[in-house]
Amino acid sequence: MDVNKIRNDFPVLRDNPDLHYLDSAAMALKPDCVIKACNDYNSKLGVNVHRGVYRLSYEATDLYEEARETIAKFINASFEEIVFTRGASAALNLVAESYGMEFLKPGDEVITSELEHHSSHMPWMNVCRKTGATLKYVPLDKEGRITVEAFKSVLTSKTKVVALTYVSNVMGYITPIKDIIRLAHEVGAVVSVDGAQAVPHMSIDVKDLDCDFLSFSGHKLCGPTGVGCLYGKHKLLEMMPPIEFGGDMADTVTKDSMTFKATPYKFETGTPMVEGVIGLAEACKYLSSIGLDNIALHEKKLRELAITELKKIDGIKIYNESCETGIISFNVDGVHPHDAASVFDNNNVCIRAGHHCAQLITSWLGTIGTVRASFYLYNTEEDVHKFVESVKEAKDFFGTF
Ligand code: ALA
Repeated sequence: MDVNKIRNDFPVLRDNPDLHYLDSAAMALKPDCVIKACNDYNSKLGVNVHRGVYRLSYEATDLYEEARETIAKFINASFEEIVFTRGASAALNLVAESYGMEFLKPGDEVITSELEHHSSHMPWMNVCRKTGATLKYVPLDKEGRITVEAFKSVLTSKTKVVALTYVSNVMGYITPIKDIIRLAHEVGAVVSVDGAQAVPHMSIDVKDLDCDFLSFSGHKLCGPTGVGCLYGKHKLLEMMPPIEFGGDMADTVTKDSMTFKATPYKFETGTPMVEGVIGLAEACKYLSSIGLDNIALHEKKLRELAITELKKIDGIKIYNESCETGIISFNVDGVHPHDAASVFDNNNVCIRAGHHCAQLITSWLGTIGTVRASFYLYNTEEDVHKFVESVKEAKDFFGTF
């Protein structure tokens, strides 16, 4: 992997050579090819899909549907198993609102965990309240991980849904999701996987995982904002009702009846995010050309270097030392995460500070929040050194008060 060549694909990095962007878990930067794909659609077509009976609209529709094919291939899904949404949150909510509201009843159990992003956990809390199902939590181990053994301790014949993250956005741990899916299927439960932090960073094969649903966002995998994806097994999507009604998803409508288009179109109400979908497909092609395994290895190496350097500084609490992906969550003793963040900003180091929309895990850690650095394909050892220098500065600066 030639990181300098990769960096040159990203205008934000070209235009800001002193920028150290370590917030890719919140949003990844966009390469030229993604920006060009979006611009080309807007400047050469810029018309709606599925509706117009003219050449430009046919071309836009072809691009949009070819993008679905590309994105399906990226995770080894079939074309009709890809539903476009506003983002991972909308995809996770769609599963809960449609599958959960249709099939859960009092006495059923839903398993989730304290490692979840709010978007993975809250939709099920809401649906359990409405349906009378019970929400259960996998007990985390002492590092804060979900283990297969702990999952077994909450799995019962009443479990109907398992909603878990594949990679935690705070701890970066990889959930042993394949084993969990196998066990869940043994009791007849379906598994909704939050793949927002996994799909951009590791090779994903939904058939191999055998997951029922997988949600992810475009903007975390170098694609545009405002677009995401729900993968769902075709037979499940077919059983699920739409949750939004209106344009494009309808088949036949009369004063007292309505029918819907086939899956996935029945879930895509209104004008879709045409430019976003086209850009997302381009991002998938771009990442595939570099290789997801290469990216994962690169992130791991940078993270190991950062951990080695951070451990040389006294008074730093690292919450996820053993993590296997490119996320570091830590605090400087006695310093509020947002105060620490201001020092990073002065040094042109972009990190995230706070509860990361995952308050269950920050509570579990016994803190109001953490400082989080996250690595991606365009980061360098220089980024790591500047980051570590900033940690030292934050500690020295706030230590003087
Ligand atoms: N969910 C995103 C994050 O972890 C925004 O930062």
